[in-house]
Amino acid sequence: MTKGSHSSGAPWRNFYGRIRGKTLRPTQKDHLEHDLDALSPGPVGWDVNPERAPLDLAARFGERPIWVEIGFGGGEHLVHMAKTYPQVAIIGAEPFINGVAMLLGKIRDAGVDNISAHPGDVRDLFDVLPEGSVEKAFLNYPDPWPKARHHRRRFVTQEHLVPLLHVLRPGAEFRVATDIPDYVRQTLEEVPVAGFERIDHSDDRAWVDWPSTRYEQKALREGRRPHYLTFRKP
Ligand SMILES: C[S@@+](CC[C@H](N)C(=O)[O-])C[C@H]1O[C@@H](n2cnc3c(N)ncnc32)[C@H](O)[C@@H]1O
Repeated sequence: MTKGSHSSGAPWRNFYGRIRGKTLRPTQKDHLEHDLDALSPGPVGWDVNPERAPLDLAARFGERPIWVEIGFGGGEHLVHMAKTYPQVAIIGAEPFINGVAMLLGKIRDAGVDNISAHPGDVRDLFDVLPEGSVEKAFLNYPDPWPKARHHRRRFVTQEHLVPLLHVLRPGAEFRVATDIPDYVRQTLEEVPVAGFERIDHSDDRAWVDWPSTRYEQKALREGRRPHYLTFRKP
């Protein structure tokens, strides 16, 4: 193993969030054990795809348009979108296993069949998504990393945005929702640098299909204003 990589060949990617929380309930463990494999978009991990071969999306999803949700948390927005757009396949990535378990419970309750989940870092997913394969991407309430010295850990940095742009199709939309004014500042600075253009200049109006989320409700209760930013790949 060389410095800066893992034994699987994976590059070292700093991830500062949590991957585990409270002890999982027995039903959640059961869902993780029985449901998760079938939801895989294909070989994403470095252990199962060391060559980083592109996923065969047509074999897995047919002709369905592909959308991606980055850090879906407990899956509220992901399940809402899957119900609203049954003709689309939405791939969510989330390393926090308790969130993944919550998503699986919600998928069972909603009975949707158009969600796919990668229980890990979205950057590993970006590696193997074919160039130009994704029609829409969502980043909702990303980790704020409020301290200035931690701003480089935010998703809205070139390290994340350049691979995201690569997998998006020209014309594809990238939506960002946040309640942190300094996150808005960094988003407006960094996202265009990566090559996106902004398409909606009113950031206080939610998208018509936005379900609101627990994060947003908490922000509103605590007096913070949500911001909704929309970009596209030219
Ligand atoms: C503040 S939470 C918001 C969750 C959800 N989007 C919502 O609005 O309810 C941010 C989430 O992003 C996830 N996250 C952070 N970095 C990530 C990465 N590199 N790939 C995928 N998810 C990531 C975290 O694990 C966390 O669950």
